[in-house]
Amino acid sequence: MNEKLHSLKKEQQELPAYRARKQIIQHIQRLRTAIIIGETGSGKTTQVPQYLYDARLHQNAVIAITQPRRVAAISIAQRVSEEKQCNLGELVGYNVRFDNMTSACTKLKYMTDGMLLREAILDPLLKKYSIVILDEAHERTIHTDVLFGVVKAAQKKRNSLNRKDVSLKIIIMSATMDVDNFSSYFGSCPVLYLEGRQFPIKLYYSPEHQSDYSFAALVTVFQIHRQASPDEGILVFLTGQEEIEATVKQIWDISKELAGEAPPLCVFPLYASQPPIVQLRVFSPVPKGTRKVIVATNVAETSLTIKGIKYVVDSGMVKAKLFNPSSGLDLLKVVRTSRAQAVQRTGRAGRESPGSCYRLYTEQEFDQFRPNTLPEIQRCNLSGVLLQMLAMGISDIVNFDFIDKPTTQSIINALDQLNFLGAVEKTDKIQLTAVGKKMAAFPLDPRLAKVILVAKDMNCLEEILSIVSILSVDSLVYNPQTRREEAVAARKKFESAEGDFMTYLNILRSFKASAGNKKWCRENFVNSKNANMALEVRRQLRGICQNQGMQFTSSARDSNAIRKCLVGGFFMNAAELDKDGNYLTLSTRKLCSIHPSSSLFNCKPAYVIYNELVQTTKCYMRDVCVVDPDWLYDAVPTYFKKK
Ligand code: CDP
Ligand code: MG
Repeated sequence: MNEKLHSLKKEQQELPAYRARKQIIQHIQRLRTAIIIGETGSGKTTQVPQYLYDARLHQNAVIAITQPRRVAAISIAQRVSEEKQCNLGELVGYNVRFDNMTSACTKLKYMTDGMLLREAILDPLLKKYSIVILDEAHERTIHTDVLFGVVKAAQKKRNSLNRKDVSLKIIIMSATMDVDNFSSYFGSCPVLYLEGRQFPIKLYYSPEHQSDYSFAALVTVFQIHRQASPDEGILVFLTGQEEIEATVKQIWDISKELAGEAPPLCVFPLYASQPPIVQLRVFSPVPKGTRKVIVATNVAETSLTIKGIKYVVDSGMVKAKLFNPSSGLDLLKVVRTSRAQAVQRTGRAGRESPGSCYRLYTEQEFDQFRPNTLPEIQRCNLSGVLLQMLAMGISDIVNFDFIDKPTTQSIINALDQLNFLGAVEKTDKIQLTAVGKKMAAFPLDPRLAKVILVAKDMNCLEEILSIVSILSVDSLVYNPQTRREEAVAARKKFESAEGDFMTYLNILRSFKASAGNKKWCRENFVNSKNANMALEVRRQLRGICQNQGMQFTSSARDSNAIRKCLVGGFFMNAAELDKDGNYLTLSTRKLCSIHPSSSLFNCKPAYVIYNELVQTTKCYMRDVCVVDPDWLYDAVPTYFKKK
């Protein structure tokens, strides 16, 4: 243990942030707002909060450090608690949606930006905190962007109160970003640059356009694997869970065939929706003489430091949520990264020693990438975040102090959606209705929150809570590449003719009845971690319902009531079958199909609702449920009258 501590201390002291320690403390002591820029791995996230704490700048209140991703918040809190030699949840803790690991003595609180925004609903002045660090600011997530305005207003208000209250310091930390924009937003506040630790990286472009980037990635990994020393890790950037799992499987299969010709290899997938325990595996060391290969989404771009990476293979692609303000549709789509993202990815190869980056696109293609990533707030559906802002008492959304404004059209669209959900009303100003206030209490998408409120009046709250919980976690089932048919056959018995939502409900019911039995899960290809997580989410949502004094009712097996409730939240995601056998969304007449993973894939129900649209080769509806058109109309006549 002592040895471990010693090596931890040594590692800490070798970080670029350590050399700048005194300067950082002085800088922040003097300023109300500060910006710190430093390359990934320089010690911003893990060290800076500790320096401030050790220098007692926190004035005995809490230091909040926000992260765009839950996995980063959890893994970093874990690391910092080791460095501070305390149990996680004591001095150092984390708070992410549905998982709170903090206590009354927590002073260094790592949390997702979404959770801090949620806390601001109850206390817009964030009085619990003396320092708020908005970390990974370059990611420009929608929650961090809104927090910029919220903390800025809180700081101003707290200073003007001029009481003996603890003052609020704001620190913005980031890898690379448009610093001028940030600095001018915070009243020309000074910027502190940490000396980076970046070794030279050899760049290789693809000589020609690659139409199949995941195949190109596979080929490149094995070119490197056959030549490089086994202690040199490879980090591959792809776009999403399915693609990553498939590639991991292929790498694994090929490496087995190569046994004897190349060193053994350990390959790990890494994406945001994995259970944290699984994600943490990528940080653990592999046996000596074995190569580590990580196939990741952009989650590995900046917020996580993985040791021993010498090679980066970059597809140049990223899965992004795009929103079309004129159609009002949210769409998941694989698109090109920005040049800034590509540079970040490349940088991951040179953190500890010189490295190489293989870009699976041509130099001409790179030149055509957009220079910076568009802030999420300018490309996403705003209804969720507007509901929270309204709950905080911010009613003049258009004139809110955004660092980069969303388009007026997207604000209008989001308010329209909230209006159809019954969450807002317009008198002399826009405000939440009683329903809207209740909806804001749930850490959920407004549509899901609405479904819960409808369920209370339809006597099926228990069932709806299960479905909403399932939709809030990653997939309950898994389909190993080689045993796909077997998996589908094993789960046939859960299938409902009424669609996926009902099928999921059957799976969770059976999981609960089997008491999470491992053998049962294996035989039915049910992901027990995700199913357990769904039960935990359910427990917490049930707690919120209890606080609101709701009656817990069950519809027994009346699936009509359950589906009617779902329509109450999802009526904007409805589609009808046309005479040619295609589906058209009711909102914008967009052509779409039922996703192959759906239990309704080969069926042609006349009317359906869906959870989300995914654009791949075609536009697919994922998580589909059969509905009666009358229910749609009855749920929100005003919405359908307009159409
Ligand atoms: O925030 P920034 O990218 O500047 O660096 P950091 O996240 O504070 O990480 C600093 C160093 O801590 C990394 O280079 C890793 O060596 C180490 N670290 C780790 O070993 N395990 C973690 N979960 C987080 C950080
Ligand atoms: Mg960091």
